[in-house]
Amino acid sequence: MKMKRAGSCALGALFLLGLFARGLTLQIGETCSSDSACDAGLKCETCPANGNTRPRCTRIQPLSPTSKVNGLPFNKYSWLTTHNSYALSGVKSDTGSALLSPTNQEDSVTSQLNNGVRGLMLDMYDFENDIWLCHSFEGKCYNYTAFQPAINVLKEIQTFLEANPTEIVTIFIEDYVTSTLGLTKVFNESGLSKYWFPVSSMPKTGADWPTVDDMVRQNQRLVVFTSKSSKEATEGIAYQWKYVVENQYGDAGMVSGSCPNRAESPPMNTTSISLVLENYFPDNPNASAACMDNSASLISMMNTCYKAASKRWPNFIAVDFYQRSDGGGAPEAVDEANGHLTCGCDSISYCKANATFGTCDVPQLAPPPPAALTTTSTGGSSPDSNSAHSDARPARLRWLFGLFSVTAFLSLL
Ligand SMILES: *[C@@H]1O[C@H](CO)[C@@H](O)[C@H](O)[C@H]1NC(C)=O
Ligand SMILES: *[C@@H]1O[C@H](CO)[C@@H](O)[C@H](O)[C@H]1NC(C)=O
Ligand SMILES: *[C@@H]1O[C@H](CO)[C@@H](O)[C@H](O)[C@H]1NC(C)=O
Ligand SMILES: *[C@@H]1O[C@H](CO)[C@@H](O)[C@H](O)[C@H]1NC(C)=O
Ligand SMILES: *[C@@H]1O[C@H](CO)[C@@H](O)[C@H](O)[C@H]1NC(C)=O
Repeated sequence: MKMKRAGSCALGALFLLGLFARGLTLQIGETCSSDSACDAGLKCETCPANGNTRPRCTRIQPLSPTSKVNGLPFNKYSWLTTHNSYALSGVKSDTGSALLSPTNQEDSVTSQLNNGVRGLMLDMYDFENDIWLCHSFEGKCYNYTAFQPAINVLKEIQTFLEANPTEIVTIFIEDYVTSTLGLTKVFNESGLSKYWFPVSSMPKTGADWPTVDDMVRQNQRLVVFTSKSSKEATEGIAYQWKYVVENQYGDAGMVSGSCPNRAESPPMNTTSISLVLENYFPDNPNASAACMDNSASLISMMNTCYKAASKRWPNFIAVDFYQRSDGGGAPEAVDEANGHLTCGCDSISYCKANATFGTCDVPQLAPPPPAALTTTSTGGSSPDSNSAHSDARPARLRWLFGLFSVTAFLSLL
């Protein structure tokens, strides 16, 4: 939207005043023309893959898991997780080579962390006498599959933890490193070792984890898992599937109604393991299908996996292109899991401060907005525009007003 042109038009100015009075930016589900027209934490997106051609403000940030109920064990929260967090579309290899690897995300790890991502899946390889993040095959990294030295991204995480003293980050390493103490050295160099959560404090018989408060107080705010079992004894890096059950990844993990464990993981219903991870992304990352995958079907799979995992909500929800959805997306799934986990409500946005578990504050929802781009006015009254949305609750409120105001605004130009 070109705001400058409106300045010359008195009517436009009046209209803008009106917009200011109601809050200048648009909320989830409202028709938009650019990211900056949407509220903080939202992006202006379409999702042609499932027929949503109307550009609408969509969520890219979950509510903070600890924002309503703090002080619970680490395994009583759900954390948004990016699959292959480092494999960014449109970047070149730090070797200078063009990259032939598929890519899974679109913004830097720093940006992901700032959007509330708290789980990072990183593939680490020996390469160029160093440890690199590569999206490769057969356990070997090549110039055309090498993204960048791991130390760069580990330093980004270090900077984030330093600047945010109450945040906790989890790293899942797909580990191809065979050099002696290769991972220990790179974590040491990055300055992350001081945040290390020790393997000895991880519950091994299904007990709760320490509380997030304890983890913060002790400054043990980095949880690291490796896919190589030997590293637990040699380097003190937790072997992932002793502590986390995880469903099948890829296409086989996207079959509606079933949630099998991945081969390396014990069955989903293994309650002697305290953490549950839900993968939901295809074999071949697909940026245009991601908005559909990360929407209703992600939440449907979360419900399927809840049952498969002995009625446990996922602690980690891992997706490709986490910013893409047709509205609530992966942030909505995380909010729902956190609602169930922390306050017994269907979304963390319905939790009431200090209320008894299961006492919820469910807002009245406006009817869902039309999927397709349309210019026909649906008329009628402006839906609920009270000011209770400042916590970015996912209800699709005010969509009619948004549709109407953008149409009206454009007609003034
Ligand atoms: C791979 O990248 C390195 C720089 O990191 C360069 O020295 C080497 O020549 C490259 N190899 C090929 C085959 O391009
Ligand atoms: C990592 O750092 C610790 C403490 O500074 C040190 O004792 C250890 O030798 C280092 N390990 C490696 C492999 O560099
Ligand atoms: C756990 O799940 C497996 C399938 O993965 C099933 O065979 C088994 O019966 C389940 N056990 C319990 C106690 O539900
Ligand atoms: C990616 O998804 C789109 C939309 O669903 C589909 O049309 C396309 O065939 C997919 N591409 C690949 C390579 O699977
Ligand atoms: C909830 O309880 C905490 C700790 O007892 C207190 O500091 C806070 O003010 C309470 N919040 C509300 C909204 O009552």
